[in-house]
Amino acid sequence: MRNPDTILEVDDLRVYYATPQGDVKACDGVSFDVRAGEILGLVGESGSGKSTATGGVLRTISSPGRIVSGRVVLDSDDILEYNDEQMRRLRWSKLALIPQGAMNSLNPTMTISAQIADVIETHEGRQDEDALRERILELFRRVGLPGRIYSMYPHELSGGMKQRACIAMSIALDPILIVADEATSALDVVVQRVVAQTMLKIKRELNVSFIMIGHDMGLMAQVVDRLAVMYSGQLLEIAGVEDMFESPAHPYSEILIDSVPTLTERKSMRINEGITHDPRNPPSGCIFRLRCPFAMAACAETRPPMVEVRPDQLVACHLWKKTEDGSYVRQSV
Ligand SMILES: Nc1ncnc2c1ncn2[C@@H]1O[C@H](COP(=O)(O)OP(=O)(O)OP(=O)(O)O)[C@@H](O)[C@H]1O
Ligand SMILES: [Mg+2]
Repeated sequence: MRNPDTILEVDDLRVYYATPQGDVKACDGVSFDVRAGEILGLVGESGSGKSTATGGVLRTISSPGRIVSGRVVLDSDDILEYNDEQMRRLRWSKLALIPQGAMNSLNPTMTISAQIADVIETHEGRQDEDALRERILELFRRVGLPGRIYSMYPHELSGGMKQRACIAMSIALDPILIVADEATSALDVVVQRVVAQTMLKIKRELNVSFIMIGHDMGLMAQVVDRLAVMYSGQLLEIAGVEDMFESPAHPYSEILIDSVPTLTERKSMRINEGITHDPRNPPSGCIFRLRCPFAMAACAETRPPMVEVRPDQLVACHLWKKTEDGSYVRQSV
């Protein structure tokens, strides 16, 4: 059921990459919603399809990738049906992207402020010089950057400052949703936290929503409102972050959460190897079954549908069985 706060709904999105050996189904029937003013975390190991799924949402997929099917509904429009011009107007102004590696792809020959000015003027036309300068300085203030960087070039800034400059750019046109793809991953641990805090502050002050893609479950736990777990092109679970950490419903979420280290309780590392199958030839049934400690015969037969096993906690796993009163219980095996 559609949540009243939903601002964006992704329904059964499929994005494939053509390869000589067949299609890689990098995003294979992914459905989720994003709600007003929330940070939705998207986690999953490298290659699980996080960038592809959000690239499908923002229509940034290029050859050999293609959007095969699905719906991405924003303000009751399916934006997968938008033409290029409609999509161009939507980017930055409603949906902004901080791409993976953004801070390293800032234009080295332009000052940060000139790059932000470019974004603004491309969408809104020529601006009064003083007003534009004031507006950019205000963006810097919002993300905690000092005004003195106004005339600096990317190479004169630290990694954390560059990343904040990318955040400043993403909020320049007041979007309703920002996709931050691994915005903290290349940074030192302390700087990662500072940048994540900046996103949290922006979320609160501007009431903008984020999809925050990352690997670090510990960092996610501190900033996101809900968490979505991806594995090999599919979403396995989506839930509020407290529910997910206290009682993960999917065995894979359990493993991910279990592997968050704490000093007081040194945990054995239960799982480390990557996705075990060839992505062009995924297993039948459940995509996770080759690595699942609880795999049963049913898991090889059908792909488990996403079901709401607790309020607002959805999981795709055959361990959960519907009872006569309509509630779900997890089988013990
Ligand atoms: N251009 C491409 N051609 C073929 N396969 C691709 C291409 N781009 C991505 N893939 C495949 O799609 C799958 C998902 O990749 P994607 O980059 O979306 O994962 P990710 O979760 O963002 O990973 P990471 O954490 O490393 O950024 C991977 O199996 C990858 O090899
Ligand atoms: Mg990625």
